[in-house]
Amino acid sequence: MKPYIIRVSSQKGGVGKTTIAVNLAVALQLEGYNVLLVDMDTVNPSIGFHLGFEHVNIGLKELVTNKAKLVDVRVAHLPSGLHVIPGVLSEKEYILSESMIKTFYNIIINSNYHFVIVDTMPGYTTDNLNKYYDEALLVSTPELSSVANVVRLATWFDKAHLKHNLVLNRFKNKRYELHIDEIEEMYENKIVTKISEDDIVPVSIEMHIPAYLYNKKTQFSKNIKELARFYSSKLNIDVEPKKRKETFLTYILRLFGFK
Ligand SMILES: Nc1ncnc2c1ncn2[C@@H]1O[C@H](COP(=O)(O)OP(=O)(O)O)[C@@H](O)[C@H]1O
Ligand SMILES: [Mg+2]
Repeated sequence: MKPYIIRVSSQKGGVGKTTIAVNLAVALQLEGYNVLLVDMDTVNPSIGFHLGFEHVNIGLKELVTNKAKLVDVRVAHLPSGLHVIPGVLSEKEYILSESMIKTFYNIIINSNYHFVIVDTMPGYTTDNLNKYYDEALLVSTPELSSVANVVRLATWFDKAHLKHNLVLNRFKNKRYELHIDEIEEMYENKIVTKISEDDIVPVSIEMHIPAYLYNKKTQFSKNIKELARFYSSKLNIDVEPKKRKETFLTYILRLFGFK
């Protein structure tokens, strides 16, 4: 099965790429899909902080240089069942070459994942790399500078023939924010969804529990679910929603060594 490969992208750092990549991956996994989440921000890897995988010492670099196999570098996030290739925090920063990305693509292309979600570092890639993705999920905050930057990135992806969608993050519904209509006019397309600013996000990062798992009833989680539904409707295959392998309570007990 060929997975649907999404790169989560923006021109700016700090807009919420990693937060959205992690929570979207968890939400799709719980919908019943097999999902692989990959940290390709090889300069500032941060998926590990969100999921409690700070201590892995082998990862993407070993995989794409054929020093390790997929089964050796992926870790299972037990509360959701999601598979993850977190960044190795102790590793010196490096930039993935085209041949490394091609190797990665060849490895996952025949895997049994429905979705591969790739968290990336801010900015552009070369044209050549875009053929390895099915689409870019652009992330912006509702501020002029952020939207202007993301629109420039969208133009770049258009030239590279990479499909893209835009999601707004940290939406506060304040008068000083750009209005959705203004943003859609700049982007020349509809946005997929807007994701609320929510204190659940920093709290959940601190606790190493994705906000979507921590509390499904928050506005943030509802928005993430909407985004997951957008992607699940693209695949058009039937899956059974997965039961969470652990309850929140058993997860906390395990975290503190009681289980
Ligand atoms: N919807 C949100 N509500 C509240 N805080 C958020 C939200 N999205 C992101 N953040 C905060 O913004 C910071 C940067 O987010 P991050 O996902 O690391 O951005 P990026 O990957 O684009 O650099 C994080 O520390 C997180 O706490
Ligand atoms: Mg990030």
